[in-house]
Amino acid sequence: MFQYKELQNIINNEIEQLNFNIEPFELYKPIEYVLSGSGKRLRPVLTLIACNLFSDEISKAIKPAIGLEVFHNFTLLHDDIMDKADIRRNKPTVHKKWNDNTAILSGDAMMIKAYEFFFSLNPEILAEVLPVFNKTALQVCEGQQYDMEFETRLNVTVEEYLQMITLKTAVLLASSLKIGAIIGGANEKDANLLYDFGINLGLAFQLQDDYLDVYGDVKTFGKQIGGDIVSNKKTFMLISAIEKAKDENKKRLFELINSDNFENAKKIQEVTDIYNQLNIPFILKEKLDYYHKSAINNLNQISVNNDKINILSELSKELIIREK
Ligand code: IPE
Ligand code: IPE
Ligand code: MG
Ligand code: MG
Ligand code: MG
Repeated sequence: MFQYKELQNIINNEIEQLNFNIEPFELYKPIEYVLSGSGKRLRPVLTLIACNLFSDEISKAIKPAIGLEVFHNFTLLHDDIMDKADIRRNKPTVHKKWNDNTAILSGDAMMIKAYEFFFSLNPEILAEVLPVFNKTALQVCEGQQYDMEFETRLNVTVEEYLQMITLKTAVLLASSLKIGAIIGGANEKDANLLYDFGINLGLAFQLQDDYLDVYGDVKTFGKQIGGDIVSNKKTFMLISAIEKAKDENKKRLFELINSDNFENAKKIQEVTDIYNQLNIPFILKEKLDYYHKSAINNLNQISVNNDKINILSELSKELIIREK
């Protein structure tokens, strides 16, 4: 069984081999730039792990795994424009280093490139994998649309938030696993259990991402802290704070959300103070634990021996306490 680091190295080596030193440079250089960043390579590693659960031969999953990483990075290019984010992986985002149009077009090119990597699969497997990927790619767009719509709404429920993060984040983790499982020859039941595991892991993963957006360390996290607060993202934390806040706190929270007159630093500080007073980090951790447990429960039903499954239980443990 391969370990995370080994699989991450395989992915990184493969990405290094890609040649983006071609014209027009303004289109391809940003792709090279974003792909050479210090990403965790979580999605392609999940694909390889899932394949490896059912087959010792992981080489046929490598190209599709790269496709999933390229797709993920494409979503980040567009996400950073939408979220007005200036740093990612400790470097200026593509739209900052170049401009919005470049980030849009290089992103589009990456989406198309992502598909190319899947065509290394034999036609039968490809016919099974492509619908999974297509459905997921569209769901990510749906999730991103809800994420933006929620910025200007105050009555977003936890249910709606969970549905939104299922779409924008969890489905890609889930289908990375399912695609790996299909390539590895898993039966349908196991492939679907891995998908469900990925959904629960993805929900926990996005909850932790939202937590780090407020409580993370900028150097380790590699992204600006407080961006979600500035743009009134309806994260689990903000929704819970709106629900729980009373009297002065509630009035102040609405002032902070509704006015454009606060400096970013002041808004971030005050909203964070309210989260702390209301014990929101603790409530988030409980929610996160719930999804972690559900994820482990899915894993335990997969018909592969425990030693092999262990790599995924260990990984899910690390992901929910991650700092980056
Ligand atoms: C960032 O994904 C986008 C989210 C879904 C939170 P990652 O946290 O996997 O980002 P990288 O690829 O490791 O930088
Ligand atoms: C990411 O959500 C979802 C996608 C990129 C599809 P976020 O907006 O929270 O991700 P980060 O925090 O910018 O990485
Ligand atoms: Mg976003
Ligand atoms: Mg973002
Ligand atoms: Mg985030």
